[in-house]
Amino acid sequence: MEQDRLREHVDTIREVFSYIKQFSGTTFVVKIDDVVMNDPLFSVLVKDLALLHEAGIRIIIAPSAKERIDEVLAKYEVPYTVIKGVRVTSDEAIPFIKMAAFDSSNRVMTMLSANGITAVIGNWVRARGIGVIDGVDFQSAGVVESVRVESVREMLEDGVVPILPCIGWSSVGKPYNISSNELAVVVATTLGAEKLIFVTARPGYEATSFVVPETVPVAPGGRLANFSLADLDVFFAANPGRELDLELLHRARRACAGGVARVHILDGREEGVMLKETFSNLGSGTMVYSNRYGGIRPMTANDISDVLRIMKPFVDTGILVTRTEAQLEETLADFIVFDVDDSVHACAALHEFPEGLAEIAGIAVDEHFLHLGVGPKLVDFLCERARQKGLRAVFALTTQTSDWFRKLGFAEADPAALPEKKRLAYNLQRKSRVFLKNLGST
Ligand SMILES: CC(C)(COP(=O)(O)OP(=O)(O)OC[C@H]1O[C@@H](n2cnc3c(N)ncnc32)[C@H](O)[C@@H]1OP(=O)(O)O)[C@@H](O)C(=O)NCCC(=O)NCCS
Repeated sequence: MEQDRLREHVDTIREVFSYIKQFSGTTFVVKIDDVVMNDPLFSVLVKDLALLHEAGIRIIIAPSAKERIDEVLAKYEVPYTVIKGVRVTSDEAIPFIKMAAFDSSNRVMTMLSANGITAVIGNWVRARGIGVIDGVDFQSAGVVESVRVESVREMLEDGVVPILPCIGWSSVGKPYNISSNELAVVVATTLGAEKLIFVTARPGYEATSFVVPETVPVAPGGRLANFSLADLDVFFAANPGRELDLELLHRARRACAGGVARVHILDGREEGVMLKETFSNLGSGTMVYSNRYGGIRPMTANDISDVLRIMKPFVDTGILVTRTEAQLEETLADFIVFDVDDSVHACAALHEFPEGLAEIAGIAVDEHFLHLGVGPKLVDFLCERARQKGLRAVFALTTQTSDWFRKLGFAEADPAALPEKKRLAYNLQRKSRVFLKNLGST
């Protein structure tokens, strides 16, 4: 037991080092909801941001000021309306909005200073008024036109954390109130950020609140944990008219389409959320990815020890047959792995037989990635591979996973349906059941 705990710690330390290596020198844009700033754990969140900075990650912060603006406008009795999620005020309100926006940015700057980090609040954003749309004059509300990227880059190179308030200035210096969410997306895409992180005051998206198509994975507890861009499009189509509820996911889609590798939507009130999300595979919010997450790739010799480790608990309980390092080496080309950030979390193999059949074998998913649709994805991938080879069906032998294969469209078959070599080697003692899936012509 003690030994297991120790091994887990060592695994965690290894994981952290590999992430530091991966992310050092990359840019994270962090949008922080100002509601989070009132949370007792906000100072811990800023401390964690400081740690990321110290690990060589370039941090840019876009603090929102929605709550603070509400407060200030209420205090000075300045009227406003909200149309399609945009605050509309007269130009006279702008000095109050500016004051609130800089207040919010100042709070972040002060806390970063308390952690020994130099931060600068800047006017790097060029904006223009939204103007009149469908007869509505949006007055002091603006949209981001451009960001002075070179200046922001210089700050980052000097080890400074740039803070961008939700204000943009026109070419003649007229200030506009802009959306921090939009600003964060523009900054992340124009700077080629690795990550865009929305720190919110709510948990990630929950499946129960939406229509969730079958292809979209739901994590235990009902969280919509991760979306590929393709998943997102299917999800949006299944939830028409919910654009405002899904604002951050729409923004995430734009950011990923613009080259950001991952967008995370986190609950900033959860202790350690930033570190968990960055330095481990145990994300707790909702993530949208445009790159290798969900990355199935062929197994290489370097992966063999990881694959043996992932299989071990299932071998120990008799669910999988024992495989040696030499056997894996011999069948290297048959195996695929599921890799996230250069660490392997699942494996599977396709062994071909001359009768136009192939066996799907050795499927195993490690404990951190169970129930997320990884297993079905591996099976799908192998079925596609078999189809491309012109095979007519795939089969699997299993003692304890029958229902799972049924769910994936496999039907129980007689051992006589097995290819000859497999039939001769069929282990009567193990009493595996045979499951078959015809591949069809497409
Ligand atoms: C079976 C396995 C590959 C599923 O991987 P996964 O990525 O978690 O798959 P899914 O995302 O579809 O989630 C698994 C679903 O199947 C169910 N399931 C898991 N094991 C099952 C089993 N033995 N029998 C029936 N259903 C099972 C889970 O309860 C879950 O259902 P839910 O999403 O409704 O909660 C994984 O549990 C595993 O590695 N098992 C051990 C090895 C094994 O059995 N390999 C297959 C034989 S070659």
